[in-house]
Parts: sequence; C-alpha cells; structure tokens
Amino acid sequence: MPRFVFALALALLSLLAGAAPVAELASPDGRNHLRLDIDKDGRALWSVQRDGKPLIEPSRLGFLLTDARKLERGFELEAAATREFDETWEQPWGEQRFIRNHYRELSVGLREREGLRRRLELRLRAYDDGVALRYVFPEQAELKSVNIGEELTEFNVARPGTAWWDTAFEWNREEYLYLRTSINEVGLAQTPMTLRLDNGTHLAIHEAALVDYSGMNLARVEGRRFKADLTPGSAGQPKVHRMAPFATPWRMVQIADSASRLAESRLMLNLNEPNALGDVSWVKPLKFIGVWWEMHLGKSTWGSGPKHGATTANAMRYIDFAAKNGIGGVLVEGWNKGWDGNWWSDGGADFSFTEPYADFDLGRVAAYAKEKGVALVGHHETAANAANYERQLGPALDLYVRLGVPAVKTGYVSDAAQAQVYGAEGVERRGWHEGQDMVRHHLKVVLEAAKRHITVDTHEPVKDTGLRRTYPNWVSREGARGQEYNAWGEPGNPPEHEANLVFTRLLCSPMDFTPGILSMKTQIPQGVPTTWAKQLALYVVIYSPLQMAADLPEVYEKNPVPFDFIRRVPMDWAETRVLGGEVGEFATIARKDRASEDWYLGAIGDAKAHQLDVVLDFLRPGQRYRAHIYKDGPKADYKTHREDMVVQTREVDAKTRLRLHLAPGGGQAIWFEKL
Ligand code: NOJ
Ligand code: CA
Repeated sequence: MPRFVFALALALLSLLAGAAPVAELASPDGRNHLRLDIDKDGRALWSVQRDGKPLIEPSRLGFLLTDARKLERGFELEAAATREFDETWEQPWGEQRFIRNHYRELSVGLREREGLRRRLELRLRAYDDGVALRYVFPEQAELKSVNIGEELTEFNVARPGTAWWDTAFEWNREEYLYLRTSINEVGLAQTPMTLRLDNGTHLAIHEAALVDYSGMNLARVEGRRFKADLTPGSAGQPKVHRMAPFATPWRMVQIADSASRLAESRLMLNLNEPNALGDVSWVKPLKFIGVWWEMHLGKSTWGSGPKHGATTANAMRYIDFAAKNGIGGVLVEGWNKGWDGNWWSDGGADFSFTEPYADFDLGRVAAYAKEKGVALVGHHETAANAANYERQLGPALDLYVRLGVPAVKTGYVSDAAQAQVYGAEGVERRGWHEGQDMVRHHLKVVLEAAKRHITVDTHEPVKDTGLRRTYPNWVSREGARGQEYNAWGEPGNPPEHEANLVFTRLLCSPMDFTPGILSMKTQIPQGVPTTWAKQLALYVVIYSPLQMAADLPEVYEKNPVPFDFIRRVPMDWAETRVLGGEVGEFATIARKDRASEDWYLGAIGDAKAHQLDVVLDFLRPGQRYRAHIYKDGPKADYKTHREDMVVQTREVDAKTRLRLHLAPGGGQAIWFEKL
C-alpha cells in the first residue's frame, strides 16, 4: 500500500533581501539536497548538492510565452509544503519485478508580485538516485491558454567531466553515434545525456512522463550550463500549446556513484504514473523472428516485384522455423501496399494498413500461424505520415484483432521535421518526431492498440520517458542506431556502440535493437563488428520484452549452438544487477528469469580486449548452479574471427569468482541453470 506522509513542515526559510533559500529538501538517504532560491529580481533558481558539495549550481526556471510576457521574473513565494512517499510497486513485465519508489517532494507556489500576478507551481522531488522537477500551470483567469515559445529550465553542472551525447535537431533524428567530449564542449544534445564528473559521480539528464508536450533537448549556453531547448511545434506553431491546468514532464537528473549504479536506477519509471490500463495480463513478452534481415541485406525487397520478401510461401517458411524452434512470433515486413517507390522520402501517403500485396495471402498466413501456435507480429511503417496512419488506425488495428495479431511494430522513417501530423485542432502539418503533435500521436496509437489488447513496438519513435509504466502495452521501441546499421550503415556501428547504449539510450528503457546476428557478410565491408559471443550477450544486456532473433532461419539452422542460447534466453526478468561497467567500454549485467530460478549474465566490451572479474554473489546462497558459458575463443576478434566461440559448462555457486576474457569486440553470455 502506498504510504503518504504529508509532512506539514513548511520548509520555509526567511526571505531575506537578495538571494535567500526559499525551501529545501533532502533525499531519504540525506545525500541529495535540493534547494530553491528566489533572487533579488524574483527569479526562481534550483540547485542540487550531493554529500554537501555542489552538483547543480543555481539554475534558472521559467518560460517564454508566444502571446504574453515571459513567466520568469518578479516572483514571490506563495506557499510551500513537503511530503514523503514510499511504496514498492510491481511491474507487469520488466527488467525487475518490484521497484521501490521512495522520495521526498516539495510543492512550491509562486506568484508574480506585480502586473497580472500570474501563478506558477513547482514540484521538486529528491530520491536517493536523483532529483526531478516539473512545473504545474494552475487554473487561473490570467493564463488560461498557455503557448510556450521556450522553456527556460537550466542545468548548471557544478564540476567538470566527460559527456556522452547524441546531437539534436539533425536529419537522422536519434540515429547518430554517441559523441564523447568534455562537458564544456557539448553542443546541442538530445536527452538522455550522460555525464561523468571529475569526482566519479555519474549523472544523466533526461525527462520523464512526456505527455502532450514537446520533447526536451539541451543547449549548452556557456561553460557547463545547459538550458532546455524544446522541440519546435509543427510548422510555425508554438513549441507547446496547452490549456491550464496541466503539468509539464519531469526534468530529471539521475545521480549515481558509478556507471553501474546509474544503469540500475529506476528513477524515470518512478516519476511516471501507475498503470492506467487495468488488467494487462494480455501484454506478453515475445521472442520473434522475421522477414526482416533479408531485406536489410538486400537479398529481398519490401516493395513488390521478383525479390519481394513478404510472399505467402516465405512467411510460411519462417512460421515453420519458429514453430519448430519454439520461437513465439514472426514479423513480416513489406506485406502491405505502399512500399514501391521512395517510401522513406516521398511522404508515405501510399501506405495502406489493410491491403496486402497480391502475393501475400494475409488470411492464409494468419491461419497457418495460428495452426502452428505462432503469433504474427504486425508491421505498420508510416514513413512518419502519422496523419495517413491515424486515418486508417481503427480499421488497421481491427484487422489485427480479427487475425489474432498480439503486437505491432510501427515505424516513422523520414528525415527530421518531415513528419506529417495532425495538430490538436485537426489541421495536418509538417512536424518534428519529438514535437508535441507527434508525442500526442504516439499516445493515441498506444491507447487505440490497448483497447484491442495489442502491444506496440515503435521505431523512429519519440524518446522513451517511462510511459510503459502507465501504458504497459508500449513494450519497446528503437530510438537509437540499431543493429540494422551493421547491414548497410555508412558507417556501421563501431564496437563500443552497445557499451555506449547501456549507459545512455538504455537508461530509459527497452530497446528493439535486434540482436543475434551471426551472418558473416552484410552490405558493408566491416560487417557486424562484434564476436558471436557478444551477440549472445546482447540478449541479456539489452532489455526488451519484444526481442528479436534477428538473423535468417538458414543461418540459425547452420549454427545450432549459438542459436540454442538465443532460443532459451528469457525476455522477462525478476531482478537485474549491473555488476560492472564504464560508459562506452564494457558492461556486465546479470538478470534473474521471472519464470524460473535461473540467472543469466551478459558481458560486452568495446574494440579492446577485457578481463572482467565477477563474483556470483547474486546467486542464491548454498544453491548449486550449472553455468553454461558461451565465451570468445582463443582466436576471437571482431575483425577476423567473430565466429570463434567456445561453450563450456561448470558447476558454480554464490561464492564462485569468474574471470571473463572478452576478445576485441567481444562478449560473454552465461546461463546459470539451477541444479
Ligand atoms: C526502420 C526500422 O528500424 C527497421 O527495423 C525496419 O525494417 C525499416 N524501418 C522498414 O520499416
Ligand atoms: Ca530505424
């Protein structure tokens, strides 16, 4: 049961002339300290200390409005109250079953001293693993319709250090390689942005609960001071348009003593609202193969013609393979009309979400899948024409209900700012993938899908801000460079890419990365720059309840040993431990299966070889396990012998220490079978 403690203590200190602390708040463990000041011009400033030392120096708050004077200066404090909250909640599926949500919260009411005397409220939260703040626009006659030109929230990082960041507002959206620079060399960054300060503290700046608002980016103003830079509104509209009352998304700073603790934080989920869908037992983790990699390899096409991949016969071949190998699902891309021509740049208006190509007998394929006990994973590539998709959404999803399709992979391939999307008032415009209109579109799709008990996996999505807690059918998404770049990317992903993802993109959420590629040749010379053992380890390291065995059936047939691990590895976990890691270098993660007492471990590295020592103290004390170890062989190297993998078994228990040898571009996967 949630335990509310409305601490009536008004953390109100005297308001002296000049900068005086207005209110303060400490995290439950006392290490993170949030403070709100109002300066002599009546500007609200927030700041954070950790262990008594500055972490975020006083940082401004407020808004530019497009049709009224800015909301930033001339405030006075009207009210302040704190409360404490502590509950443990259960995820219906996830990387861990139970999550403790323990925080202290400060609510502050601000009011302009003069003029319209408009009000603005702030909620600030201090957790042991970070801090967060959101604005609340209360109902008031002076500000009914809120048109935001810019949010002025700042993050003034107190110490120097290193930043890992993805450039914002570029044509390829979230699909860039992470940049590593010193903090004072960051340009315009997407969130999450990960920082390692010179004292070893790790931070990630991001947002939670992005609903009916535009996505936040970070612009470095000077030194280490960052300012929110909201995604523009569609074609000349304000960045955000809302009617009060409403609350903005949470602006959050995850705080940890190490990269491993950062990756274990569930702060973003805790900042989201509880499940709003009721019984979600119909949301089921699923492993799937797909008529997919063959298109990325150029062996077949999405469009119709002699090389069309989505034929009835080919889909049935995949279904046979899935049924034979206990793989739950089959995705078929390119099944529907609209793929002929330059769908990725011509506006996507040709896409039909109900009409299959002539050589794809949808009814027959669905019946065949059903007979074989395999689920079809639906596919809706929209080319970011969200308006075209919305016009067909009801019938498209109803069709999947009739066919028994439990999950749909959606896609929004187009250059940035080229989405076509309805505004709230129903006018179609060009917009950004993370603008308010697209944020609203995605939630609409997720809710329409939920009504029909369909789960959603979004590609070229809006970034994840933890909404899977509230809408548990939004099971996964892409939102970074996936494995597909190793098929055709210019360039492909470098060996450190996944070790970057763990501590950046994956801080937020499940990712449909599509691991499991054993194929040696792709369309680019480098091929897949990881060893086979690392491909297996990615199933443990990269969490996704909808997880693909991404390679071709014929490749898996030829390689039953690695495929055996891919078939077996779970997609739903009771516990997760990040045993070690450094951003962009390596990560070792252990997870306990939800359905058994078995544990799994995945370790991944970068281009260098690694020796990683792990203690198996996560295993149940006194219990023996058989470790099935998939490791890099003596010749393994991502450049020359990616296939060199050795499988060993040995008995272990919680006291065993293992030394993991990772080859260049290597990894290791272990299944701990309870004896
Ligand atoms: C990009 C997606 O990430 C990929 O998985 C998909 O195959 C193509 N778009 C086509 O929809
Ligand atoms: Ca993609």
